[in-house]
Parts: sequence; structure tokens; C-alpha cells
Amino acid sequence: MTDELVKIAIVTGANTGLGLATGRGLAEAGYTVILACRSEAKARSAMDEIRRMVPTASLDFIALDLIDRDSIRQFSATFSSRYDHLNLLVNNAGVMGPEYTITANGLELQFDANHIGHFYLTSLLIPMLDQEYETRVINVSSLAAKRDWADIHFDNLNFEGTYDDGQKVFGLNGMVAYSQSKLANVLFTLELKDRLASAGKHIKAVVVHPGVSATDLGRNMPLHLRLLAPVLAPLMGMSKPAQGAESALYGALASDVEAGDFIGPTGKGERSGPPGKVPLPVKASDHDLQKKLWALSEEKLGITFNV
Ligand SMILES: NC(=O)c1ccc[n+]([C@@H]2O[C@H](COP(=O)([O-])OP(=O)(O)OC[C@H]3O[C@@H](n4cnc5c(N)ncnc54)[C@H](OP(=O)(O)O)[C@@H]3O)[C@@H](O)[C@H]2O)c1
Repeated sequence: MTDELVKIAIVTGANTGLGLATGRGLAEAGYTVILACRSEAKARSAMDEIRRMVPTASLDFIALDLIDRDSIRQFSATFSSRYDHLNLLVNNAGVMGPEYTITANGLELQFDANHIGHFYLTSLLIPMLDQEYETRVINVSSLAAKRDWADIHFDNLNFEGTYDDGQKVFGLNGMVAYSQSKLANVLFTLELKDRLASAGKHIKAVVVHPGVSATDLGRNMPLHLRLLAPVLAPLMGMSKPAQGAESALYGALASDVEAGDFIGPTGKGERSGPPGKVPLPVKASDHDLQKKLWALSEEKLGITFNV
């Protein structure tokens, strides 16, 4: 069955952490969920875990590596051969604080995986999202987009010679570059929202952040901090993945969500608490910056992103 009544969602990075919890929540809500992951083994194990909690879950796996352009094209082609529409695209996958890495695409890893890969994936899936009824794109950003140092470094996008500068967070380098990629998620959402509105599409672009949640995102932290994480997480007020995923689920499912909304936890410092509308990062409302990033993303991909 591929009519509009079958609600179909793609969640990138659905094999663990927030993506897994989001996939489970969408399965509970009756969506057929496509786990878009780079490891089939991890995705299959996540599918088993979801089915243990939601026995009726309708799940599928399609391979996706966001730093491999062929993989993104292949994902889109496979998805389009299996399904005839898409209700929800959750651009969730992400990497934080890796060793300085330039990908095969010539880009700093966090910018490539967290922003450019999702920008490309979204561009390819727009025709499947373009329906007479409302569909949504949910981009998962971070509080890191709100840091004073969050910016798009057009003059040194790859942080050559500066990657390890700036304050370390949880012993991680590259956090200014992480903030760049997460601000890019917000700028991309807002420019996409404007373009979709101009084109009269029924696709709603929404950006969310989970607050601070205990997931595998800290996998690049020094070993001693990773070992201490289970003890430190509750002391630091970190939420469980199921709570962190509430922002994405609210953005995806709530009827009062509007295009361009930023959804996050509404508790102290937006670290945890019930999801709701939260203020956008100050820089994100800069229309010139939104357009400049869009043009740069098209240029890096060698594409024109038509909505
Ligand atoms: N946890 C937090 O407190 C927090 C706070 C703010 C924002 N976020 C954002 O929330 C999102 C989910 O993070 P998480 O906390 O759930 O982290 P996580 O547990 O580490 O999960 C990250 C997911 O992204 C996938 N991924 C990484 N690189 C990829 C690539 N090149 N292609 C495809 N998939 C890739 C990982 O796959 P593998 O397992 O195969 O590596 C994994 O499934 C990220 O965008 C992150 O920036 C998290």
C-alpha cells in the first residue's frame, strides 16, 4: 500500500540515541519508519529493539552514509523505487567532536555529515515530499547553534589550523566547527521554509534541538570521561534519549507547529523539560546568511536545489 493513508517517515541515524527513540515514537504513532543508517547490522538490531516495544511496527532499512554522495543518491533511488510518497523526513544523524578530518568531498567532517549530506538528501527527496497534503522536514540542530561562537566561517570553512582552538567541551576539540554545522541546520531550515512558501508547497520545514541527552554522541570524548558518563549524566541533568527525542517528535507530530519553528525542551537553559517553541539563535534570522549558506551548499555539491 502506498497511498497517502500510509504515513511514511525517514529517520537518518536511527540505529542509536535520539534517532532510535524518534523512530520508535513514530512507529508508535503509526508511521512506517525507514531507518537510514550506514551500518545494516546496527540498523537491524535497532529494528529488533523497536519491535520489542512496538510489536506492530512497520520498519524498513535503506543504507545511507551522509558523507558519501553516491550513497545519498542510491538511498534516494532505492526509496523512490519502494515508495511513492514521503510524509516526514527527520534529518537527525550527526557527529560531534571527532579528530580533525577532511572527507573525500574536501569538507570538514562535521559540516559534511551534519549539514551538507542532509542538504543533499533533502534536495533529492523534495519530489516525494511534494504532496497535496502537509508533509514535514525536521532538521535536528543543537544548543551549540546558540553559542556566542556559533557562525559560518566562510573564510575558513574547514577550520584549517584552527580546529583545536576555542574552549574544549567534555574534552572534545572541534566544538566551534560543530557549532558551525548546527547553526547551518537552522539557517538551512529557515531558507528552505521561505523557498517552500514562495513555491506554494505543502512541505513544512521545522528545526528542533534535544537539549542535552545521554547518547552515543560523546563517543569521541576521552576514555575517562566516557567511563564516567553514566555517573555524570544524571548529575548534569542530561535527559534519557526518549526524552531528548521528544523535541523531534513534537516537531514531527504536533498540530500547532508552524514552518520555521524552533522546537526544544522548555526547562531551564533549554537542557531538558517538555518540548515547545524556543527562541531561534540570534544569527539564524539573518536572511543574507541563510542565502549565502544555501548558495555555498549548492556550490559544494555542484547542484541546484529546486523546491
Ligand atoms: N545528545 C545530545 O545531547 C544532543 C544535543 C544536541 C544535538 N544533538 C543532535 O542530535 C542528533 C542525534 O545525535 P545523538 O545524540 O543521538 O548521537 P548518537 O547516539 O551518536 O547518534 C548519531 C547517529 O548519527 C549517525 N551518523 C553519524 N555519521 C553518519 C554518517 N556519515 N552517515 C549516516 N549516519 C551517520 C550514527 O551512525 P553510527 O552509529 O553508524 O555511527 C548514529 O546513528 C545529532 O544531529 C546531534 O548533533 C544531540
